[in-house]
Amino acid sequence: MIDPYGRYISYLRVSVTDRCDFRCQYCMSENMTFLPKKDVLSLEELELVTAAFIRKGVRKIRITGGEPLVRKDIMTLFRNLGLYLKSGELSELTLTTNGSQLEKYAGDLHSAGVRRINVSLDTLDPDRFREITRWGDFARVMRGIDAAQAAGLHVKINTVALKGFNEGELGDIVRWAGERGMDVSFIETMPLGAIDALRSDQYLPLSKVKADLAKDWTLTPSAYRTGGPSDYFDVAETGGRVGFITPLTHNFCESCNRVRLTCTGMLYMCLGQEDNADLRAALRRDPSLAALDAAIVEAIGRKPKGHDFVIDRQHDDRPAVSRHMNVTGG
Ligand code: 5AD
Ligand code: SF4
Repeated sequence: MIDPYGRYISYLRVSVTDRCDFRCQYCMSENMTFLPKKDVLSLEELELVTAAFIRKGVRKIRITGGEPLVRKDIMTLFRNLGLYLKSGELSELTLTTNGSQLEKYAGDLHSAGVRRINVSLDTLDPDRFREITRWGDFARVMRGIDAAQAAGLHVKINTVALKGFNEGELGDIVRWAGERGMDVSFIETMPLGAIDALRSDQYLPLSKVKADLAKDWTLTPSAYRTGGPSDYFDVAETGGRVGFITPLTHNFCESCNRVRLTCTGMLYMCLGQEDNADLRAALRRDPSLAALDAAIVEAIGRKPKGHDFVIDRQHDDRPAVSRHMNVTGG
């Protein structure tokens, strides 16, 4: 599938639940209302929709959330999608997780065919971890990362750079990840959904982070590409890589290859726009799946050029889109 701007759509991100066992300060407010269970696609329906995208040329699937591993029986979906890896129809099945359930599931994920996962981690300090996630248990996440590496999964750490929170710690995260053979990507916070704090108080431009890191580490532009928005640098001292995901300071929409399915079957063609397509209605209306296929093609035909994120004082009470990251999938 090719969109109106000539971008080849080969990547689907599937948010399997909007629920999460953490409440990260920049992601959610403390009191969140989650979607009613009846609106959520069954695992069978999620698989049907995903399979339709695979028939249309999608080669990479990422399972996201909320926290995907808190969804009941989620390993069934991984196992079933893993069959498309075996048949060669999919080239990659990946996961973004907060790590809280990895101790339990790392082995099963590997058996299903998952080889690379992203673990979100914003600090190495257990007390600060509790502060930023409100509910998370740092030791448990560390055990999860250990289990993932022991199971043979390549772990990449995703760290949201937050002013006044982990600003002084990002170099330590580079060292720690490098020692463990893990890449790390830093991410600029995005204005998605209402939170309890002000985005402009949290926003830390990565141009500054990179300049600060370059004082202690030798960073050279890397040839490494994952097809994602991360711009990678090799770190001479650790032998690892550090990536920068800069939706605010440098817009990468021109190379966007992805669309996002929510757990209720809404397809978002852009993380930063409100327009969506109701694939659940199409799926439930027509058991032959023809309506679903047509709805997908029609939706790709109106994928927007890009987002228009702004974070400043004037925009603090007006996020770019009203939905939180846990709806569209991180
Ligand atoms: N801006 C940037 N990243 C966010 N995440 C959640 N909310 C936001 C936001 N507003 C990140 C999480 C995780 C991934 C799922 O998305 O930290 O790495
Ligand atoms: Fe949960 Fe991830 Fe949002 Fe944190 S950032 S609350 S772990 S969905």
